[in-house]
Amino acid sequence: MVGVATNRSMALRRRKKRGMRAVFIGVILLCLGMGYLIMILYVARSSLSSSQQEANEKQNSPISLRTTTQDSVKNKKDPVRRHHLELEFGAGVEPDHLVELDPKDAPILYMDDPPIQQHPAPENVLQAYLEPLNYDDWKVQPLPLRRTAKADRLKKVSYTRLSSCSKLTQQWPMDDPPTDEDPFLPWIHDVFPTADGKYIQFVTQNKRRCRTGSKEKDILAHMAPQASLFQHVSVKRMEEGRYRLASHDDADPDAMATRFICRFKPSMEETLSVYNFDYDWASYRKHYKVSFAEDDGGIKQIHTTQLIFRCPVPESLQEQIRTGETVQDDWASLFVDLIPIRTGPRWGPPNQYLVPQYDEFNDKNPAVRFDPDQVWGKEHILPRIEDSGRWENIPICKPSLMTYGPYNENEDTENAVVSPDEPLKKHRLVSCLWASSGYATRGNRFAINDGQRRLLEWISYNSILGFDHFYVYDNSGAFSAESSLKPIVDLFPGKITYIPWPAKICNNNPNNVDSVGERSSQYAAESSCRLRFGPHVDWIGQFDIDEYLVPMGKHNNVTSLLDELEEEGTKIVSFGSWRAWPRWKFVETPEPINDKEVCWSNEPCFDLRVPLSNTMLQAYNCDRQKPGEKTSTMPAEKQLYTSDYVLQHFVHYSAVTQLSEKNRTEYIKEGFRWKNRAFPDPRQRFANEKEEGLMIHTKAVARQDTAGWERACSIESQKLPKRKQGLCRLGIPWPEDTSQQNTNNATDDGWAYNCYVNQKVEEFFVPKLKEKLAKWAHFFDKV
Ligand SMILES: *[C@@H]1O[C@H](CO)[C@@H](O)[C@H](O)[C@H]1NC(C)=O
Ligand SMILES: *[C@@H]1O[C@H](CO)[C@@H](O)[C@H](O)[C@H]1NC(C)=O
Ligand SMILES: *[C@@H]1O[C@H](CO)[C@@H](O)[C@H](O)[C@H]1NC(C)=O
Repeated sequence: MVGVATNRSMALRRRKKRGMRAVFIGVILLCLGMGYLIMILYVARSSLSSSQQEANEKQNSPISLRTTTQDSVKNKKDPVRRHHLELEFGAGVEPDHLVELDPKDAPILYMDDPPIQQHPAPENVLQAYLEPLNYDDWKVQPLPLRRTAKADRLKKVSYTRLSSCSKLTQQWPMDDPPTDEDPFLPWIHDVFPTADGKYIQFVTQNKRRCRTGSKEKDILAHMAPQASLFQHVSVKRMEEGRYRLASHDDADPDAMATRFICRFKPSMEETLSVYNFDYDWASYRKHYKVSFAEDDGGIKQIHTTQLIFRCPVPESLQEQIRTGETVQDDWASLFVDLIPIRTGPRWGPPNQYLVPQYDEFNDKNPAVRFDPDQVWGKEHILPRIEDSGRWENIPICKPSLMTYGPYNENEDTENAVVSPDEPLKKHRLVSCLWASSGYATRGNRFAINDGQRRLLEWISYNSILGFDHFYVYDNSGAFSAESSLKPIVDLFPGKITYIPWPAKICNNNPNNVDSVGERSSQYAAESSCRLRFGPHVDWIGQFDIDEYLVPMGKHNNVTSLLDELEEEGTKIVSFGSWRAWPRWKFVETPEPINDKEVCWSNEPCFDLRVPLSNTMLQAYNCDRQKPGEKTSTMPAEKQLYTSDYVLQHFVHYSAVTQLSEKNRTEYIKEGFRWKNRAFPDPRQRFANEKEEGLMIHTKAVARQDTAGWERACSIESQKLPKRKQGLCRLGIPWPEDTSQQNTNNATDDGWAYNCYVNQKVEEFFVPKLKEKLAKWAHFFDKV
């Protein structure tokens, strides 16, 4: 992969050298001879928002959502265009890298597993035991015993590459998991002990949603066990350490809702997994007719994109795990095995087998209700662990603060040990960011390589707002070993926790479509951040690197807004996010490209660049709506939320909350009137855009999206029928002073006004940001 990228980048360099340097008219600005140095192949990643399932999860949102048709017009599946893209891949706007990557920080890209002799604990190498599946078993009632599942039928896969706790997210087999072959083995993206040492937390993704669209029948059928894993089984402990499937009435009290046996090593103690929340109940509260369907991927359900669950730690081990003392030389001495309990999925309504606390909502119809005695039988004893497919030797590393922070070496690491009863709160407001040094826009149309520049500006900006820490999940490693965000992270010691996150993205589009929908890597990073660090923070801002939260009204930072939200009991606050346009005046003068192949259009296009002497925030400070008007038309929302209240967060939404988990009795006890739907959560609201805050989405405009700009941006086009007008993606602001407005609503040159400048950004935040960035001017000069 790296080799391919290099060839392409050289081709690109040659192409770039030929031209397109521009001098600014009006603003005296020389383009600083930016060498387009290291262009690397960036695959499938979009920093944006409106994927299908997100747009479909309307009931989560009080506002009406629209898919962004304007933005996706050019994104239709055209084989010629896609072929063309292959050739053009890597061509992008903006500088590559402000700061070179120190080779020692290069992302680890494992193609092969190193030999076992090199492993720090050869007897505890991470392994997967794959069990052959007989899907026909599910048609038989009671469920046949897996007598044939003897150990010799299992296939063993070893991952010797996993050998370092601090590099776990780089070494874990996210991109070559055993899940495809044995779909009962969860597609683990991250695993870590909770700070109190009481649980081992798993963050796993639903692989049944990869490349299936919603209708790839073969994949959906084969991956059906992935659906099972979201649904609890109830079991009873038997003699000789065996387990039997059991009805709720019959099950052990602590084994009412489990799915995995967790075996701890070397003590060999066993516990049963627990879910972070109840997936069936969440489906029910969201009014889904089914939790999972046999012939449908269920991509509209956002809460089933990922499976999060925990293994309770035996009491005898909790103290050692909490203090991190079991990890020596960056490697574990305690391990956990994860043994899935293999039963078929319950297709159909979510309320056929709800746990006792939700019993009043179980379907009353015996034909619908799930009867464990009938389906599983009363005698279904699970095979011995040695005869079962499983994950084996999952390392138990240190709690997250000890593994990843304090970032600053001068900080006292001992303080990271958390007392058993009281999670250490370190920060009031943090950001969880999944980003990379470069990426391609949705559908791989166009590569954007400005990640470093963006990060530097974005961290500087958000520091002004009162964010006191940042967790950066760097996805650069999914694409290359030659670029990363680490050099920028290093500029902010103590401010940023850096987590290399090379997990590639699976999407939920069918095999033959390469445009990204599902973004497993992003979703897993988000949950990892929330579950690892959430217990140590009050508020999390879940925004992208091109999204700028702007405090409005009397607020000059986010902290004063949080004071008010806390006062009124709001736990989640949403901001509308709709692309703003880059202002004409702040981008380099277009160098028209007349090439149908490049522009995907008969009309000329150009590479839109914001000179390095300008900030992205200022350039893109031109919203299509005035403050306060966005909420009625915007397509996406982003949230600030309290970490303890939100049990699952999904890019734009709080998908499960403490309140949505409650049954009717408990819900009413909280002082709310019971409603059929749990969302929108009554402790969530939109921010007032004029008085509290709004979001400016500075999404880069791709080359192809500039095609025909002269026509689309001119006032003449406004006279054409709507469908012929085209969308002007350059910002031509309405004058602030209405007396300056031309009566024909266009500039003297005939460019039609199309956006509004936010004066608070212009006059207050941009100068502050520039002041902060001045410190790094030397990087920009070099590029
Ligand atoms: C509601 O949940 C609580 C807490 O789990 C439980 O004690 C109670 O019995 C439940 N109420 C009903 C009506 O099921
Ligand atoms: C936020 O702004 C308020 C006034 O609006 C000020 O009192 C406070 O010190 C500021 N906090 C931070 C962290 O900048
Ligand atoms: C200019 O815009 C205003 C406000 O949108 C509108 O009322 C007016 O009709 C427009 N004028 C022309 C000449 O299009």
